Order: sequence, then C-alpha cells, then structure tokens
Amino acid sequence: MKIILAYSSKEGLLQEYRDRLGGYAPEEEIPADFFAEGDSRETIKAIINALRSKGHNVIGMEASDLMHNTFNSFHPDLVFNIAEGLYGDFRESYIPMLCEKYNIPYTGSDPLTLAICLNKARAKEILSYYLIPNPAFKVFYPLQEVYLQNFDFPAIVKPVSEGSSKGIFNDSIVDNVQVARKKIEENIRRYNQPVILEKFLKGDEYTVGVWGNGDEMEVLPIVSINYSTLPEGAHPIYSYEAKWLWDTRDKPLEIFQCPATLNPTLKERIEEVVKEAYQVLQIKDWCRIDVRLDENGIPNILELNPLPGVLPDPKENSCFPKAARTAGYSYAGMLNKVVEIAAKRYGLA
Ligand SMILES: Nc1ncnc2c1ncn2[C@@H]1O[C@H](COP(=O)(O)OP(=O)(O)O)[C@@H](O)[C@H]1O
Ligand SMILES: [Mg+2]
Repeated sequence: MKIILAYSSKEGLLQEYRDRLGGYAPEEEIPADFFAEGDSRETIKAIINALRSKGHNVIGMEASDLMHNTFNSFHPDLVFNIAEGLYGDFRESYIPMLCEKYNIPYTGSDPLTLAICLNKARAKEILSYYLIPNPAFKVFYPLQEVYLQNFDFPAIVKPVSEGSSKGIFNDSIVDNVQVARKKIEENIRRYNQPVILEKFLKGDEYTVGVWGNGDEMEVLPIVSINYSTLPEGAHPIYSYEAKWLWDTRDKPLEIFQCPATLNPTLKERIEEVVKEAYQVLQIKDWCRIDVRLDENGIPNILELNPLPGVLPDPKENSCFPKAARTAGYSYAGMLNKVVEIAAKRYGLA
C-alpha cells in the first residue's frame, strides 16, 4: 500500500508557534510543557521503517494544509495518522478532516471522536449518559466567576483539552475550595481554555490498550502504574513531572507493569469498562484508555487517548507499545496490525 505518515514533529510545532508570534519566540519564554505532544524525529523514522518493513511504500509528512498536494501527487491508499497538532480544540481532527474531504482512508478515529476525546468534559458527559463510571466533575469557563460549592475534595484541576500530562502538575491536586479556586483561575489564564475540576480517585491506576472494530475489538494486556516509584512526597498521579522529568531514558522509573497483577474479577471489570467506553465514544482502530479505581474499587474511566503515543524504544515508557509487546507484537507488528485493522474497516485489500 502507499501510505503517508501524518505527524506533528516537535520542530514543526515550534515553527508553527513562531509563525503565530510573527517569528518572535525566545526559547526561554516557551512554557516547559508546550511541546509535550510533538513527535520526535526518532519516533517518526521508526514508524516509517516499521511500515516499510511490511513492504509498504511510505512517506512521512508534517501535518499541514499542504498535505492535500501530496494526496494529489502521491495518491496514498491510506494515511497513518499520529498528528496531534498544536493550536485549537480541534487540532487532532485536522488531518482526519482533510482525509474525509479528499476521500482518503486513514487510521484511527474520525474528526468528531478525536475532538470529543480531546475535550475531557465532553467525553465524560457521553460516558455519564451511558452510565460508565467516571470521576464527578465540574467545568469552569473563561470570563466567568469560579462558583464552587459542595465539591468532594480532594480534587484535581486540569485544562479541559490537553494531553501528555500537559497542565497536570504535582500541585494540581487541591484539598479545599480556596486552593481549588486559585488553581482554576490560574489554569484558565495559563491555558486559555475551560478547566475541569475532578474528584480525585485514590485507587490503583491502569492504562489499557484496545484495538479493532466491531466484534473484533480486543483488549491488550493491562498496564498498571506503580506510584511508589515516584520521589518521596509526590502525589500519586502521572503528572508532567512524572512523565517528563522524573522518568527519563537514562533513568527510567519502574512505574509501569505489564501485564498488571490483577485478580480475575477486577481484570474482567476493567476489560468490560474500557470496551464500553471504546464503543460509546465510537473509537476506531485503536486507543489507550486510562482507568482508576474509586473508593469502592470500581474501575472509572479517566480519559481516552485515540491517538496513543508509540515511542519505539522499549526503555522509554510508552504504554500502547508496552502492552502490544506483552501480547507478543513487535513494534513493526503492532503498527502493521493497526494498518490491517484500518484497511479492513475500509474494505481495502
Ligand atoms: N480524577 C482523577 N483522579 C485521580 N487521578 C487523576 C484524575 N485525573 C487525572 N489523574 C491523574 O493525572 C494523570 C493525567 O491525567 P489525564 O486525565 O490522564 O491527562 P493526560 O491527558 O495528560 O494524560 C492520570 O494518569 C492520573 O494519574
Ligand atoms: Mg492520560
């Protein structure tokens, strides 16, 4: 097949950031978590090589409005989409939207599902409608006074439309109304978007890869997160610090275990709830879903990641590849399986 890998590289995002500011963007003024989501050259190369190893004709392309020119010249059979974009609440929908417009098959979820999952509050509203457990929450909007009563603390404050632990810091956990209000106001200013306050679930946390469509949906081995590996005094969350500062390639935290040690009942419950979430959000092809137990031991959905990170180096903590590896897939085997799943959905040979 002819495949275009559509990505958002760290360099590409920096360029976009500079362009927006008319070229003026000294490094030191860029917030530390700004490029948390960009793909590294190494990841991009590894994905291209993985797809080529299966005999596909693959080119990589920065996600941009120029992509349709390549549609016209290269005539791809499929776009492998990992592009997360930088600006706006619909940034993850951009490439799928272009593909829809030009009638090009693409991997992963459609523009609507990507936009909904990027907005944690909207996704939770759908989960709640289908009675799928998720932490109690309230959303606060720019230009509105933060009115907060009867919320069950401790809670966590998060920007509503970010990922990769962007905006989730060790001090995002709040214990009372005053601190919560301050944090919410600070977050609205900083991230320029609504902010979600969620009841903080203290139970064990898991992240679960799911792939396939319809009756072929399959849950990969569950990954558990062990917070005792974080520095002393750190809150038990997978924060920006945990993901990007405390867990490095040179000194990886032994924070993930796969397969998770679980009793059969809990394992089944987690598998059930992630499958339900995958279905009601109409995920396509693949997704990584974060789950945490509430005080009654019930698995709750924290969020869905329909563009799961796929770092190639097993020493780096990247959970979808880790789960796939545990299930017996090599890196290339995993990515080519995503291609197969998408191709089957479109009825491609
Ligand atoms: N309601 C919550 N209760 C407990 N922990 C939470 C809650 N929300 C987020 N967290 C913690 O913060 C981490 C990041 O939050 P998440 O919503 O998954 O954002 P991201 O999109 O950045 O991954 C989670 O993996 C979890 O450790
Ligand atoms: Mg998450």
